[in-house]
Amino acid sequence: MRPIKIENGEVWVLDQRLLPTREKWTKISSAEDAYNAIKTMVVRGAPLIGVVAAYGLALTAKKVKDVSEYIKIGEWLKTARPTAINLMWAVDRVLNSSKDEVNFVKAWEEASKIFNEELENAKKIGENGEPLFKDGDTVLTHCNAGALATVDYGTALAPLRVAKEKGKKIKVFATETRPVMQGARLTTYELAKDGFDVTLIADTAVGLTMMKGYINKVIVGADRVLKDGTTINKIGTFQVATLAKRFNIPFYVALPSSTLDLKSKVEDVVIEERPSEEIFYIKGKRIAPRGIKAFNPAFDITPPELITAIITEKGVYYPPFNFT
Ligand code: MRU
Repeated sequence: MRPIKIENGEVWVLDQRLLPTREKWTKISSAEDAYNAIKTMVVRGAPLIGVVAAYGLALTAKKVKDVSEYIKIGEWLKTARPTAINLMWAVDRVLNSSKDEVNFVKAWEEASKIFNEELENAKKIGENGEPLFKDGDTVLTHCNAGALATVDYGTALAPLRVAKEKGKKIKVFATETRPVMQGARLTTYELAKDGFDVTLIADTAVGLTMMKGYINKVIVGADRVLKDGTTINKIGTFQVATLAKRFNIPFYVALPSSTLDLKSKVEDVVIEERPSEEIFYIKGKRIAPRGIKAFNPAFDITPPELITAIITEKGVYYPPFNFT
């Protein structure tokens, strides 16, 4: 299941806000289209937003000839969302593909390279992570780190897909992932399409589900992973990891190297805060009283001591993490 199509030089993305009820494709023709699609979460998931930004900027290289204006557009595109490092990384790769000129051919080639690398990375993450999962496992995942968050296969879901291909029976529990519901809307959708046995639970049910012994492994994706393994991922990940530790359940994180940020310190990472409306309203209907405040962070921080292993396209890393 691919959330992005490249056809005759055109870039089309699946509008993830409408899933699972509608499959609507939207065309990306410029950096501005990419910015809007990323900011409004038409596309989401760290690897996918990097790829969409790369193509959007490349398409702008067709129209803009002035280098400083082009760089300015690239820098602006990086601000569409602040947390997933893939966005900044992909824009920089396209900007650096041609020095002192705006070169559409080179920019497009670089964007395509990023696309193909992410496709390969996802497959390799699947192969590297697969041996960690046994026939009969029931695995909990949070948010959507599947095909819809990448170019295909996914990061966290890739090892589960490979395990299934190899004939292992893997059941999945997906958290609904309030407030944007990536788990309820996207993870269950793509896994059910692939024939997985999927159970949806409320985010608040993780503790009891683990206590009852229903889960024996957890795997999640990441928006940014720091040098020491500190993992920044969808809000709620830290709670899931803390509970997994409490119940001695292995907690895995899967990501491509494009999600690694070996330079930043944890205090440098900007945790995106999204509009209050996302938690004040459900399907356009206000559910909270007026006159109150909201705090709506989109991501949280899981310290390395809660992580059993980190899977990338290069292999499986165990603590103390060292990605070099
Ligand atoms: O806000 P989102 O939907 O972009 O957040 C996505 C996540 O947090 C995913 O877990 C992460 O990007 C990994 S995607 C392979």
